[in-house]
Amino acid sequence: MAPKRKKIAVIGAGICGMISLVSLEEEGGFDLVCFEKTDQPGGTWCYREVPEEGVGSTMPTTILNHSKEIGAMSNFPPKKESNNFMKHREIYEYFMDYSRGVLKCIQFNMEVLKVRRSDDYEKTGKWRVTVKNRLSGETSTHVYDGVLVCIGHINRPKMPSFPGQDLFQGRIMHTHSLKGVSFCKDKTVVVVGMGCSGLDAAVETSNVAKQVYLSTRSGAHVINRVGHRGLPTDTLVFRRYLCQLLDFLPYKVVGWFFESTYLDLQFDQRMYAVKPNHSFFSKDPALNDQFGSKLLSGSVIQKPNIQRFTKNGVIFEGDEVTECDVVIMATGYTWKFPFLEEGIVMKEEGRINLYKCMFPPHLPHATLAIMGFLLTFGPAFPSGELQARWVAQVLAGKCKLPSKEVMLKDIKRRHENNVSRFGPSDKTTVRVDCIQYCDEIASQFGAKPNLFKILFTDPKLFLKIIFGPSVSYQYRLQGPHSWKGAREAIMTSMDRVVWPMTKRKAAEVQDGFFRRLIHALLRLILP
Ligand SMILES: Cc1cc2nc3c(=O)[nH]c(=O)nc-3n(C[C@H](O)[C@H](O)[C@H](O)COP(=O)(O)OP(=O)(O)OC[C@H]3O[C@@H](n4cnc5c(N)ncnc54)[C@H](O)[C@@H]3O)c2cc1C
Ligand SMILES: NC(=O)c1ccc[n+]([C@@H]2O[C@H](COP(=O)([O-])OP(=O)(O)OC[C@H]3O[C@@H](n4cnc5c(N)ncnc54)[C@H](OP(=O)(O)O)[C@@H]3O)[C@@H](O)[C@H]2O)c1
Repeated sequence: MAPKRKKIAVIGAGICGMISLVSLEEEGGFDLVCFEKTDQPGGTWCYREVPEEGVGSTMPTTILNHSKEIGAMSNFPPKKESNNFMKHREIYEYFMDYSRGVLKCIQFNMEVLKVRRSDDYEKTGKWRVTVKNRLSGETSTHVYDGVLVCIGHINRPKMPSFPGQDLFQGRIMHTHSLKGVSFCKDKTVVVVGMGCSGLDAAVETSNVAKQVYLSTRSGAHVINRVGHRGLPTDTLVFRRYLCQLLDFLPYKVVGWFFESTYLDLQFDQRMYAVKPNHSFFSKDPALNDQFGSKLLSGSVIQKPNIQRFTKNGVIFEGDEVTECDVVIMATGYTWKFPFLEEGIVMKEEGRINLYKCMFPPHLPHATLAIMGFLLTFGPAFPSGELQARWVAQVLAGKCKLPSKEVMLKDIKRRHENNVSRFGPSDKTTVRVDCIQYCDEIASQFGAKPNLFKILFTDPKLFLKIIFGPSVSYQYRLQGPHSWKGAREAIMTSMDRVVWPMTKRKAAEVQDGFFRRLIHALLRLILP
């Protein structure tokens, strides 16, 4: 008799939900259903003119902050014609192509209201899921063998409250609802926060505003997407031999090295009015290519934190009143899993108790996982895909989780390391370095590349994996659902990077020895 197929509910059809469906389908043996509360898949990357509560939101001009090869799915290289930093529509199309086979599993306009342990949970590990049809208003409850929570965590705006804020007569908004900048025409705008959203908001509004002030309490390291020779910065620096220095040297030393040898050559951070007061690896860098020129033209002026609001403006710390019409809070997002039974995702001493940022360690069955709840130093998609591939193995009964004690120890170790490197914050526990985390998850189910073996069996591939861009195809060289095309995809990744601009291969546009020498000499001479 064929084994009984397990019923799995995936909650949310954003990128993580779609990746989870694809991985479960690839493993096979599951009956899948995905509940999506909106009427379309894609989550954050399905552009909406009007933002929806609890759904990630982009601006019409948003482009990815990692390049196509660095963020690619492990068995689905982007087309060579695709742009390196995809616009929101292009990344949406990429994921639609990737998940075409599982779109049929998605039920739209279905909002999950409750997820509770079933009556026989202790024995079976099953879950009761209550869903509301948002069109008809009907609710229904079904029982599932497994539940994957894929509702994202960059979608619930965090609104700070400064003294006197309620006196202010201008407009205050959050970047979550910033869709255009025409309302800022000839206005004075204050943007609060210097993450990617803050820089995007400052740069975009400054194209039409009279003046933009960017207020930041701790500054940020800013990276250009465009790096040396016009190549995507991440394809140059997101390489094993560089990123894994963090495993051997103190992060402050590696940070100092990166700032001095790369970042400061683009725009010396000592020239900022508010310099970042932390090491490069202690906070997410902010990506923006126009910020430097906006500072140089004075269109954006950097200011410290807001001390308080007045009727017509704000007072920055140590400053006089700055009159303004609009304040845009680019102050990030908080997290919540509103439908989960209490006590599933527990916070203890500031620590979010999730094993490998996914599994509640105190549950006796590994039948529920939180997906994509990560703040990744590097691209988020490859880590999300490895989580999905691992969870498929766990739900299929092919991988087991360790004991509760071992899981708690692992969670505490990550949290303590993160607190000492990043400082405490509401999401400190779920911060990870991309390559290290991908290796960690891949090794749970045998997909971490065996570099020692590759060194002797395929030295060319070894050199590419260590010194080339760190692409996720390496996690398809071995283990479950390995892929024959993985080696070729790794060897040709720079060709796909160079192609959209040059219509040539990487080797054809490489610098010769003398040009490299001249560049090095110029660096010695220039101030
Ligand atoms: C402006 C912006 C730019 C970003 N840029 C990048 C980037 O360049 N690179 C990167 O890696 N990350 C980026 N991110 C982070 C982004 O969160 C991830 O790229 C990715 O979209 C996360 O996917 P997700 O599926 O986890 O969550 P989401 O995209 O938030 O999708 C969650 C889905 O769950 C659904 N849902 C929620 N609650 C329920 C419920 N109760 N019942 C049913 N369905 C529900 C939502 O409708 C939504 O479709 C960016 C985020 C923002 C806001
Ligand atoms: N692809 C893109 O172009 C793009 C665009 C936007 C966002 N994103 C992604 O979306 C995610 C969220 O980015 P985000 O910029 O919205 O949020 P974020 O990275 O969390 O940054 C929030 C900023 O707000 C500041 N802040 C928070 N609370 C504050 C307070 N009470 N008072 C003053 N300042 C405060 C923080 O300062 P401190 O550092 O001092 O805490 C930080 O500078 C990130 O993963 C980002 O990469 C990507």
